[in-house]
Amino acid sequence: MSSSSRDSIMNSFSMNGGDGKNSYANNSSYQRDILSDTQLVVAENITAMLGELGFPEYIKVADLGCSSGPNTYLAMSGIVNTIIDSYHQKGRTDSPEIDCFLNDLPENDFNTTFKLLPSFQEGLKTDLKEREALDPKYRDSFHMWSVLSDSLLDLVSEGLVKESQVDAFNMPFYDPNEVEMKEVLEREGSFEINKIETREFAVHYASSSEDVVDESSDQFKKWQSIANIIRCISESILVPHFGEAIMDRLFHRYAIHVAKHLTVSTRPTKSTVNIIVSLTRK
Ligand SMILES: C[S@@+](CC[C@H](N)C(=O)[O-])C[C@H]1O[C@@H](n2cnc3c(N)ncnc32)[C@H](O)[C@@H]1O
Repeated sequence: MSSSSRDSIMNSFSMNGGDGKNSYANNSSYQRDILSDTQLVVAENITAMLGELGFPEYIKVADLGCSSGPNTYLAMSGIVNTIIDSYHQKGRTDSPEIDCFLNDLPENDFNTTFKLLPSFQEGLKTDLKEREALDPKYRDSFHMWSVLSDSLLDLVSEGLVKESQVDAFNMPFYDPNEVEMKEVLEREGSFEINKIETREFAVHYASSSEDVVDESSDQFKKWQSIANIIRCISESILVPHFGEAIMDRLFHRYAIHVAKHLTVSTRPTKSTVNIIVSLTRK
């Protein structure tokens, strides 16, 4: 593959920019919940790493895929505050110089991220309060790609999309399990695996068993916001294949499926799985 076609494929993975209703910045509470969930593991590793490095004077922290919006600051403030706490616990009064690097694809909307820089600086002083406020109220994991497929098929029935277009579409997404993840890391060979663990996110199903979705209800806005979580991460891949014109309709259908899935299902808890890995470069 030529480097220019590889670059254009990579850029098509960029999240939706800006701070509008379909932006990544406003629809990434799911990723934020995962970040909150990983903070303990991250803190344990930072403390161990600082001990091994002898509490250095300079530390560089990089987010390799910071995206646009506030999440990267949640990750960064967690890391920076843990570093500062560790120095204090060690009886060191001098804090190290910490440089934070935000990295992402060239097409990423860094402007939206940088506008939020002042709240990051405040977060460093009032981090505990912020953590409480960011605790997840509910978690909304479910089989998002099969719901997207159902929504696309709805549009085929409505005559807005050709079935052949849906057949020709592949979502470049693969959910590895822990064993596969370990194999890839070992084969690649650059890293020592300190810790690898799988976490499941629980889903709280609503008790209602309504079959008809009330699209004017406040509850429906919640389903739409779940649809938007998927929209802001997948639109850059969907639009080149299906066109911009069907996006509103597609994610409206998505919200309806979410409403039915979450209200009709009687399964207790089934969730997507997140793999948390701690690595040291060899
Ligand atoms: C799902 S987002 C996660 C963003 C953020 N870390 C969060 O937790 O909300 C994944 C990010 O990785 C970026 N990304 C994907 N491939 C990348 C690459 N090769 N180099 C840098 N960033 C990349 C995407 O552009 C996207 O912003």
